[in-house]
Amino acid sequence: HQAQHLQHGLAALRLVGFPDPVKAEHTYPFELSGGLRQRAMIAAALVCRPALLVADEPTTALDVTIQAQILQLVQQLQGELRMAVLMITHDLGIVANMADEVVVMYHGKVMEAGPIEDIFRDPRHPYLKALMRAVPRFNMAPGERLTPIREARAVTDHLASGRGRPQAEGQAEGPLLTVRNLSKRFVTRHAGWFGSQPASQILAVDDVSLEVNAGECLGVVGESGCGKTTTAKMIMRAITPDSGAIVFNDRGTPRNVLALQGAELFAYRRKVQFVFQDPFSSLNPRMTAYDIVSEPLVIHRIGDADERFARVKELMALVGLDIRFLRRYPHSFSGGQRQRIGIARALALGPELLLCDEPVSALDVSVQAQVLNLLLDLQSALHLTYILISHNLAVVNYLAGRVAVMCAGRVVEQARHEELFRRPVHPYTRALFAAVPDPDLDRKLDFTALMEGKASNPAAWPEPFRLDGSRCLGMLDLGDGHLVRASENADLKELRA
Ligand SMILES: Nc1ncnc2c1ncn2[C@@H]1O[C@H](COP(=O)(O)OP(=O)(O)O)[C@@H](O)[C@H]1O
Ligand SMILES: [Mg+2]
Repeated sequence: HQAQHLQHGLAALRLVGFPDPVKAEHTYPFELSGGLRQRAMIAAALVCRPALLVADEPTTALDVTIQAQILQLVQQLQGELRMAVLMITHDLGIVANMADEVVVMYHGKVMEAGPIEDIFRDPRHPYLKALMRAVPRFNMAPGERLTPIREARAVTDHLASGRGRPQAEGQAEGPLLTVRNLSKRFVTRHAGWFGSQPASQILAVDDVSLEVNAGECLGVVGESGCGKTTTAKMIMRAITPDSGAIVFNDRGTPRNVLALQGAELFAYRRKVQFVFQDPFSSLNPRMTAYDIVSEPLVIHRIGDADERFARVKELMALVGLDIRFLRRYPHSFSGGQRQRIGIARALALGPELLLCDEPVSALDVSVQAQVLNLLLDLQSALHLTYILISHNLAVVNYLAGRVAVMCAGRVVEQARHEELFRRPVHPYTRALFAAVPDPDLDRKLDFTALMEGKASNPAAWPEPFRLDGSRCLGMLDLGDGHLVRASENADLKELRA
């Protein structure tokens, strides 16, 4: 029996495309990547040849390219084993790509049910209609605005009367922030049972160069672990790079950010602020909303108690929160409200540049639109410049003017957003776009562009993009600010085709 069980197990693992099923017998889950772990879970569910597979948010924790592979796998197995699938998801894009029939639930009740065509082409229930207008799509018209289910209006009237941050007269020439050839290697020592084991190294950020112009939103996209947060932290001076340069254009005076010290560094920190990914862990649970928003003013010794209170009231209005909330603690707020408190705090010192690291990733789809619209409105009202980091391409497409695509620590492509979305050149960018499930029945996932899961492996990229450690590739200019990392011998005309 033992042997038979093993055979069934191996067959199931083979079925889900596990690379080396025999070796898997001696592999523990923590040794596997997220994608392989999910494949193993599916294999375990298939061992008994079920008639129905219930998949509850099977891909929520995965990167889009891995997600697309798992979706492809489920679809394939469904056909091969003639099995029914009950797919539970919050993602309308997944629904559009996977379902034959749809049931929409809200507060424990079924709101609407029917065949996929009816649900997407003719939604009836107000909740479903609202949800469809709230989710960023690729085919949005230029300037089209999302409609949040509950709008949070930024009150910016007082800014018109000149009380906001004064717009710099004669804005300085050149980009606001210039990042040149930034690199960072992490060395980790695993403490073993018998002293420390050999150190392992990871090149988290490799030769990253970016320019951010005043007033624009630069999007940075890429899968988890590609170095986005590390790059942002180096710009914030929270991590010291191994090499490279960062220059901040301080109203015409170039500041060498990496050399700033003391009072100058303090001044830099007023001008560049951070919005964190996770509003649940980034706010101190023991501080009231008032303390959280006013703390930067206290640290920077700005104003007396009355002036701070006035400023905090202004900031709460800016992010659309009631000032009656000020004495409450973070746990009593929803995710969207917490993120707005985080944004109010980031704005307290009147910064010029806001680094937003996955600002809506931890939020429910129904409140993402609210926070995205808020960021959009604040940018124009306060003349802010953004670096928007996200793994979600539709989010970046909605807010960013220019986009940089990162993979394995490097920027592989950079362009204005329409150009990038219309004509992606790099195989990684193409795979990334192909992997995003769009809530649009006429734009189904293209599983062929996924390169069988090799898209995020630089050694597997075709020429002239391949990076196998034997050479360094620079950025080629395809014109109009469209840059792609490729061999300098590459035929520009061919790339553009
Ligand atoms: N403090 C650290 N020590 C060791 N490795 C780290 C540290 N911070 C990040 N890394 C590694 O660097 C890589 C890039 O991480 P990160 O910048 O957080 O990626 P992203 O934000 O794009 O998900 C990852 O492989 C991560 O494991
Ligand atoms: Mg990150």
